[in-house]
Amino acid sequence: MIAEDDIRNALKAVKYPGYNRDIVSFGLVKEIAAGKGAVSVSMSLTGGNAEVALQIKTESEQALRALPGVESAFVEVKHQGTAPAGGAQSPWAQQNKLPGIRRVVAVASGKGGVGKSTISVNLACGLQHLGAKVGLLDCDIYGPSIPLMMGVHQKPTISDEEKMVPPSNYGVKLMSMGFLLEGDQPVIWRGPMIMKTIQQFVTQVAWGQLDYLLVDLPPGTGDAQLSLCQTVPLDGGVIVTTPQEASLGVVRKGIAMFEKVNVPILGIVENMSYFTAPNGERIEIFGHGGGRAEAERQKIPFLGEIPIYTEIRLGGDSGVPVVVSHPDRPFGQAFVRVAESLRHKLS
Ligand SMILES: Nc1ncnc2c1ncn2[C@@H]1O[C@H](COP(=O)(O)OP(=O)(O)OP(=O)(O)O)[C@@H](O)[C@H]1O
Ligand SMILES: [Mg+2]
Repeated sequence: MIAEDDIRNALKAVKYPGYNRDIVSFGLVKEIAAGKGAVSVSMSLTGGNAEVALQIKTESEQALRALPGVESAFVEVKHQGTAPAGGAQSPWAQQNKLPGIRRVVAVASGKGGVGKSTISVNLACGLQHLGAKVGLLDCDIYGPSIPLMMGVHQKPTISDEEKMVPPSNYGVKLMSMGFLLEGDQPVIWRGPMIMKTIQQFVTQVAWGQLDYLLVDLPPGTGDAQLSLCQTVPLDGGVIVTTPQEASLGVVRKGIAMFEKVNVPILGIVENMSYFTAPNGERIEIFGHGGGRAEAERQKIPFLGEIPIYTEIRLGGDSGVPVVVSHPDRPFGQAFVRVAESLRHKLS
């Protein structure tokens, strides 16, 4: 058992950034919990900014890990941003929450199988195609499919600074829960472990300079998704849906989820909008236009529609996203257009 006093003493070695005083004497430490080899500390920060919070978190975890008997340490720094003076502010007022990363954007959907990962991958490559520096973080613990879709087979390496170096393909850097799972093993991780790992995916990965970090959330809008949204410092969220009403019902849940955690909704993408038969006939398998109609009803932007193309599915299976292999064909163009609207919303 690790003594609370030892934990406090270890934390006294961590200085408040820019000050000579330590974080314990500043009164930041609120709760300490210690179990077998694991320490978890909760801190609360009123002044400062997200960068300060992150630095405190990182240094505290390092200090705790150096304690004898500690195998894992998790420090949560709750940060209440100081409200800026005067009127309306852009949702991006708190820039550079993560050093080097301009915008963190989550891609979510109320239910599974609507093409969320396909959209995340092609949007990431689409933004890269438009000249941006892009990272892609696959938080889907239940079925991480992004490494396959991106054709990435190597695992991250560890840098001299002990950070994880994300593998990359098509100019997009990639981290995935899939890298940490063995084969087809089912995930039996408990919630706190997942949160901790995701947090490290954001803070302990050598992302370098990024214009956009896209985050593929697991399907659904339950507690797991909600806590993920709180774990990652999101700048905005994109909701993916299919046109039919059954899927749109869950769009509303997606909107509610982002609103709960104060993440601005950047817009809706409608996937599988229609299919063009070889004779040119347009077949609206799931109906059409529901995404745009819902966006209008909810007064949120509509980012575009992606039709059904065999090439899109093939691209996913072969690890070459269509926006990479065919940026000028209609199926590649559909993604480029959505990437353009997204870039516009984030500028
Ligand atoms: N517009 C499209 N045209 C053709 N096939 C598509 C399209 N969008 C997605 N697919 C295919 O549908 C399947 C499901 O897509 P995907 O894995 O992206 O969904 P998902 O929402 O991420 O699923 P999950 O909820 O399991 O994470 C994949 O085989 C993918 O290639
Ligand atoms: Mg998926």
